[in-house]
Amino acid sequence: MNPLAPDILFEKIDAIEAAVYDLLLLADPSRDCIEEYLRQSEVYTAKRGGELVGVLVCLQHSAALMEIKNIAVKEDLQGQGIGKQLLTKAIALAKDKQYERVCIGTANSSIGQLYLYQKLGFEVNEIIHNFFTDNYPEPIFENGIQAKHMIILTKELDT
Ligand code: COA
Repeated sequence: MNPLAPDILFEKIDAIEAAVYDLLLLADPSRDCIEEYLRQSEVYTAKRGGELVGVLVCLQHSAALMEIKNIAVKEDLQGQGIGKQLLTKAIALAKDKQYERVCIGTANSSIGQLYLYQKLGFEVNEIIHNFFTDNYPEPIFENGIQAKHMIILTKELDT
């Protein structure tokens, strides 16, 4: 099997088991935030050869907009193209459900994520200044940069 094109199976789930929750925490250190959006979201697991490799959480933001609330790949399997497949799945789900656009928020310090999302056609359209400094108790650093602002990227689905 080509490791760059792994055979991923997606499944919509209702109950969140511990291994899935651990993945959610990779993308979002706030259990309070996770609990809040899980109540209103659809959760999909991604499995390869029966092994849990990733998770995707999608929320109806409005009739026209689907928001990706959480996307994460198991740490030791990152960099193999699974994240790209999760994002492609989210875009396909949004198209199937007739949304006009899909959005995702990430930190100013999340360089790899900003790269991946823009590579798949998402464009920066909003910055929520000081989101992370105002809402998280501890400072967050990635790539030697402090996570201060939330960058919202949106993909129009008619293009
Ligand atoms: N730095 C630089 N580039 C990165 C990167 C990083 N941290 N993460 C991904 N990329 C690039 C890859 O090089 C690849 O580029 P290419 O297509 O030009 O080869 C592309 O993005 C896709 O990478 P992929 O292997 O599909 O990504 P992944 O399986 O590692 O998943 C995440 C990406 C972000 C989902 C994964 O790293 C993750 O779970 N991170 C922790 C949780 C998280 O931050 N979630 C997002 C919150 S907004």
